[in-house]
Amino acid sequence: MKKILVFLTVMLMFSVKAQEKTLAPTPPMGFMTWNYFGVDFTENDIKTMADAMVANGLVDLGYNYMCIDDGWQGGRDNKNNIIADPKKFPSGVKALADYLHSKGIKLGMYSDAAPLTCAGYTASLGFEEQDAKTFASWGVDYLKYDYCGAPSDAETAKNRYKKMANALRKIGRDIVFAICEWGDRYPWEWASHSGGQLWRTTADVRDKWASYAPTNKDLHREGAGIFDIMNSNASLSGYAKKGAWNDPDMLVVGLYGKKGPSGDLGGKGCTDIEYQSQMSLWCLMAAPLMITCDIRTMNEPTRKILTNKDIIAIDQDKLGKQAKRVVYKDNWHVFLKPLANGDYAIGILNNADETRTYELKFGEIGLKGTYDIYNVWTKERESSLHFIKKQVKSHETLVFRISK
Ligand code: GLA
Repeated sequence: MKKILVFLTVMLMFSVKAQEKTLAPTPPMGFMTWNYFGVDFTENDIKTMADAMVANGLVDLGYNYMCIDDGWQGGRDNKNNIIADPKKFPSGVKALADYLHSKGIKLGMYSDAAPLTCAGYTASLGFEEQDAKTFASWGVDYLKYDYCGAPSDAETAKNRYKKMANALRKIGRDIVFAICEWGDRYPWEWASHSGGQLWRTTADVRDKWASYAPTNKDLHREGAGIFDIMNSNASLSGYAKKGAWNDPDMLVVGLYGKKGPSGDLGGKGCTDIEYQSQMSLWCLMAAPLMITCDIRTMNEPTRKILTNKDIIAIDQDKLGKQAKRVVYKDNWHVFLKPLANGDYAIGILNNADETRTYELKFGEIGLKGTYDIYNVWTKERESSLHFIKKQVKSHETLVFRISK
């Protein structure tokens, strides 16, 4: 009898577990306000950006979150409920959420595990349950939770994140929880246990290629470029899996040195080759894809980079593996990402200052035999090869999908 009871309990536990929903089964995609707007936006800006997401086909491609970053808050009311700035959101967040939802777009919001956010607005410490209820009542689907103004030790961070995650789970709405403490406390080791579906791994991205500062601490000071962030995030591939993602921060594609947060610390802008490289590297690394340029007025190269179905498919692949960096020498970086249907994605980045040729023999990276090769950017196909030999421009990342 006892044995049967134990057996039934275990079965029940398994079935409850099986029913548990994976909140971010693939890396979240969408638009985030920070780099383009800073704290300067209104509900109308959000709506017009959302309209452009629909009109440009981005929502159909999977970019289905509109994330409102810092600067939306208007303090607390006399019952301590957090409120949106009524000047920025005259119709209220609920009405905006309804608008977005009617277009197939989910709403992301932002808060911080301290009394004030990074930009000095009202945050959630001590109000976790109350704020979680408010967010749910508005129809929020994603919460980015920052760490400015909080103590530097990892224990406090783990506890504060867990507290908000628990509050979100308690209200029973599916709200993705995005941990943002910039990689300073090795969140890849604990963020999942603290209830996060993704966690920032580095200092804030700037609109530049690289500062080559050696540590994350230096990158905070000198500004982290696309290459710097890739270089840190690449070594964390073992921590990413379905529902738990390394977040190397937003896409700077299409910003071209715009003044604002990403324009600080040397963010003078990148070339289209470098922007395409960011998209390539982020997709190989199964990163969340948050666009931050002005979708309403984006130019053709930007549109092409952001809407390439084949590169997005690599990012969103159901297997949920982050590419491993399998070659890292002489300014060459080669990435290998296994895909759900047995194919592999391969990325080759040339980080030298001049165009060079690379020959990758598949045998060198543990792949046997020959493969059919599809270049996801040029759409060229080659069949039955046991190598890839290509010219790669400075800072360019070529991406191939190879299959048997
Ligand atoms: C921090 C985060 C950024 C952004 C700002 C907002 O710097 O890392 O991504 O959210 O705060 O103030």
